[in-house]
Amino acid sequence: MTTYKKLEEYLKDHQNTWLITGVAGFIGSNLLEKLLILNQKVVGLDSFETGYQNNIDEAIQDANNITGKDTSDNFKFIKGDIRSLGDCKKACDKVDYVLHQAAIGSVPRSIEDPIGTNEANIDGFVNMLLASRDAKVKRFVYAASSSSYGDNTDLPKIEDMIGNPLSPYAVTKLVNELYASVFAKNYDFKTIGLRYFNIFGKRQDPNGAYAAVIPKWVASIINNEDVFINGDGETSRDFCYIDNTVQINLLAALTDNDEATDQVYNVALNDRTSLNQLYRMIEEKLIKRIQGLEKKEPIYRDFRSGDVRHSQASIDKAKKFLDYQPKYKISEGLDEAIGWYINSVK
Ligand SMILES: NC(=O)c1ccc[n+]([C@@H]2O[C@H](COP(=O)([O-])OP(=O)(O)OC[C@H]3O[C@@H](n4cnc5c(N)ncnc54)[C@H](O)[C@@H]3O)[C@@H](O)[C@H]2O)c1
Repeated sequence: MTTYKKLEEYLKDHQNTWLITGVAGFIGSNLLEKLLILNQKVVGLDSFETGYQNNIDEAIQDANNITGKDTSDNFKFIKGDIRSLGDCKKACDKVDYVLHQAAIGSVPRSIEDPIGTNEANIDGFVNMLLASRDAKVKRFVYAASSSSYGDNTDLPKIEDMIGNPLSPYAVTKLVNELYASVFAKNYDFKTIGLRYFNIFGKRQDPNGAYAAVIPKWVASIINNEDVFINGDGETSRDFCYIDNTVQINLLAALTDNDEATDQVYNVALNDRTSLNQLYRMIEEKLIKRIQGLEKKEPIYRDFRSGDVRHSQASIDKAKKFLDYQPKYKISEGLDEAIGWYINSVK
């Protein structure tokens, strides 16, 4: 039995209280769904800056459908802002595990608004560290980012080989890692950072100027709108399906291996897909499902500033210390998510 399977079995009979910040967002709401399925108590904190009440409602509904029970009694929502230490303290009260996801995502958004990104991602992060430390939580697991690799072009990306950040967003995520480590060393506080590489799946926002590539393209293809590819399409990414991400969050929260904490881990597949390949894959899957949809050429435009050319992660460290075993490859993840994407565009 895998460590993850054991952990799922264990949690079903041992109820803990978890705080998910950014619970109304894409990753946060998927964590919520899983924890409710596992009969856990969850406190969710969100300011609805980029998240939606609908994501929370849908997560609870999906958990209810899977368990055949009303799981909503195990969930408490706090509308609050991580930039307020008071809100963070309130949210951390009597919490066992923190999964800190709240942040202002997106490289281009941070280039447009470095101060807003800094306030949420650094001030908010330190507030959450402090509140979690004072509440004596058992583990502080936080969303780090592959953007920390910056201008280091070595592949695959290995956790201790980082370069210079290429955007304000990347600076904030790197600073998070430094703060987490300083808290771990000075306050005997257990932290784990998860460097997410392009995560995708249901409830990822397809709308807005800063939407991630997969939901944005799906929406454009379905609506018969032009799809734009930044650069020549040979830019590549290590796309990782949300279920793999949920898995590593729970593994990181519950590992009892002391060597595994005060560390950061890549969260990916150790795979590389170019934007051209991704476009064809999505188009093919949609054509199979939507009658009358026809092949169309994407439009190529300038490279986007702050973007790295290639990205592929080594996941050896996560395998070794956390027994992370990603179940879904990109194509399987797209098959799982595509129905949701199609419904969300209607
Ligand atoms: N999705 C990815 O591929 C990816 C990659 C690398 C890192 N990350 C990180 O993972 C985390 C979650 O990302 P996501 O894709 O779910 O994004 P998201 O925008 O869907 O979710 C972020 C959530 O945080 C909330 N939030 C933002 N600022 C807040 C504040 N000041 N106070 C309280 N809540 C606030 C938003 O309202 C939103 O619900 C973020 O930290 C992001 O930087 C994501």
